[in-house]
Amino acid sequence: MATPLILDGKRCGDALKAEIAKGAVEVLMRRGRSPHLAAVLVGDDGASRTYVEAKVRACGSVGFQSSLFELPASITEEALLDKVRELNADEGLDGFIVQLPLPKHIDADRVINAIDPRKDVDGFHPVNVGNMVLGLPGFLPATPSGICEILKFYQVETEGRHCVVVGRSNIVGTPISILLSRNTHPGNCTVTLAHSRTKDLASITRQADILVVAIGKPGFITGEMVKEGVVVVDVGIHRIPDASRKNGFRLVGDVDHASVAPRSTAITPVPGGVGPMTITSLLLNTLRACMA
Ligand code: GUN
Repeated sequence: MATPLILDGKRCGDALKAEIAKGAVEVLMRRGRSPHLAAVLVGDDGASRTYVEAKVRACGSVGFQSSLFELPASITEEALLDKVRELNADEGLDGFIVQLPLPKHIDADRVINAIDPRKDVDGFHPVNVGNMVLGLPGFLPATPSGICEILKFYQVETEGRHCVVVGRSNIVGTPISILLSRNTHPGNCTVTLAHSRTKDLASITRQADILVVAIGKPGFITGEMVKEGVVVVDVGIHRIPDASRKNGFRLVGDVDHASVAPRSTAITPVPGGVGPMTITSLLLNTLRACMA
């Protein structure tokens, strides 16, 4: 098999960001202020901080205003709910996210339910999830929506193809399985949703024309688990200790790139694949929140 096409999320994200930046100027001219996204970070989890800081930085790159609210891990659920209500009522704010996971003593579902669906640019509120399932307008969750944008940008044919999704989280696996089975472009796939209880996973993944992996285990999918010619979307991102690197680690996905890439026609890299597109989709949702 020839070298696969690398589905470059940065390239695709930059193209979309140029459009988003134009939209931000339109909003500024019309309303006298730029789109404004806020992020709430509870506690001091290193990975969550990295993600949230990247989201805030991305706002600057498209001319959005951004705010970051850092709250201690010890915050009570009631105090966090008060913060959510305050942001719901803030007319200077178009959308906000509460970075997950939250500390164990806080019920994340209660917090998500408290977010005004019109400001829920993560697309996690049951109203937005319901709209997605029904194919009605609403905010799509950022990672699955970013995956769809990459497939569209690189003109990956999805119609009638068998897509196997590995992982059934609310954030990625479940929504991408719904989006790719809808009668849309990209979409119209025949979707199989595999998960931790799936028997003989390799026999399922080997049937995939398009394989989306969001299982949260580094290097989990290996070359012998895919068929020749597959298109691979790797959602995982993990830090692996690596003494040969200056920072002491390297980033890997859920897919063992070295053995899977030679069997693929196209594959997302880690880093630089799905990650940058997730952030771009969040910006797109924020822009849409302004237009509503
Ligand atoms: N944690 C991991 N991914 C996400 C995301 O897309 N949004 C939020 N709020 N938290 C996350």
